[in-house]
Amino acid sequence: MITTPHINAEKDAFGKTVLMPGDPLRSKFIAENYLENAKLVNNIRGIQGYTGTYKGTKISVMASGMGMPTIGIYSYELFNFFNVENIMRIGSTGSIQEKVKVRDIVIGMGACTNSNYASQYQLTGTFAPIASYPLMREAIAQAEKADASYHVGNILSSDTFYSDNKTENESWKKMGVLCIEMEAAALYMNAARCGKNALAILTVSDSLVTGEETTAEERQNSFTQMMEIALNTAVAVD
Ligand code: HPA
Repeated sequence: MITTPHINAEKDAFGKTVLMPGDPLRSKFIAENYLENAKLVNNIRGIQGYTGTYKGTKISVMASGMGMPTIGIYSYELFNFFNVENIMRIGSTGSIQEKVKVRDIVIGMGACTNSNYASQYQLTGTFAPIASYPLMREAIAQAEKADASYHVGNILSSDTFYSDNKTENESWKKMGVLCIEMEAAALYMNAARCGKNALAILTVSDSLVTGEETTAEERQNSFTQMMEIALNTAVAVD
């Protein structure tokens, strides 16, 4: 048994790939609806982690919570202490481009950020957090296969959901950034530092351009498509 401050599980309790939704109930949903023989392997702070099989491949799903500090903690511990090679965040995002519509899928090729997370590496310039190319290439292939409406590009991982700066979205929009979420940049940096692989696959839950929002049912349906892309990607890269 390995006990880190936030995960209490056997060293081999997790699959090579961990899917990481923000919400612990999503983690439970995936385990109950997609994984065979799913077992709860972590529940510290209600951060439910399950391991089971999907199409014969051992896969885990564990929640990250919201924000860069929390995904930073869980991805660090999974990469460093539990033999996890790939972490795929599956979450929601707000669009800041007209062409990125609610219910679309966004595959985060790069993750800009307004957070100070990279300062710990003491680099003499700006680090560019990017997705794992093999994971991204496979996820794009799976999105094509699923005939999904998807975009691939730069996203923004923000430290604030409620920002006092009302014009910042416009500045990121001008740089071609597709959408805003709150976790990918830290995940990509941890993967880079650990020599492991990460990807964020997102569904657009709301548009910060038009104000349009998805209903709970629509969110569930687009979440299902994203989840299947992530699961099939995990099987293909195992
Ligand atoms: N900002 C940050 N994260 C989000 C948003 C948003 O507008 N929508 C969904 N996740």
